[in-house]
Amino acid sequence: MERWNAVMAAGDAYLFVFPEYNHSVPGVLKNAVDHALGARLRNKPAGFVGYSGGPIGGARAVEHMVGITVEREMAPLRNAVLLGQVGRGFDHDGLPVDPMTEHALAILLDDLAWWGEALRRARAAGQLPPPRQRPVRSLAADAASVGGTPPVPRASPGALLRGDGAQVGG
Ligand SMILES: Cc1cc2nc3c(=O)[nH]c(=O)nc-3n(C[C@H](O)[C@H](O)[C@H](O)COP(=O)(O)O)c2cc1C
Repeated sequence: MERWNAVMAAGDAYLFVFPEYNHSVPGVLKNAVDHALGARLRNKPAGFVGYSGGPIGGARAVEHMVGITVEREMAPLRNAVLLGQVGRGFDHDGLPVDPMTEHALAILLDDLAWWGEALRRARAAGQLPPPRQRPVRSLAADAASVGGTPPVPRASPGALLRGDGAQVGG
């Protein structure tokens, strides 16, 4: 399990392929994202291929994965692949019957590659710490002390963390 986690942690982009179970994701997938992978997924893109026995093509499961991965501070992608009635979705050569499936997959993979590289560079340059590690600030108090409107919170360069966890600047 630890070895699997280490391999998974090394990824810059993630393509989740999963069926719809009872209008949601399989419990084992949610467990992996909740516990096994956890913070290792932070600031990385997530692409989704959903499939189902019914005609909805795993859309409800994909929508749930958007919320689940956002909570892990991933960047879920808009463009997904949905395969409904999956038992009839492939021909004898194992290719998708609907040509739009290949098209949707090509778009998803392009998006995933772009976001993977963009966020890899961003993480290397410096990441904001997780919310619970940031000091509590009162924007109202800031505003009262200068008599103006509450300032827009800005990340101090000193608060950035590099990919290896070291602090940048400050
Ligand atoms: C526990 C369970 C729940 C399922 N719930 C749904 C569902 O809500 N909607 C649907 O279209 N298909 C549902 N199915 C059908 C699966 O999406 C379909 O059989 C799929 O191919 C299963 O993939 P798997 O063999 O990789 O587990 C369910 C299947 C199982 C086993």
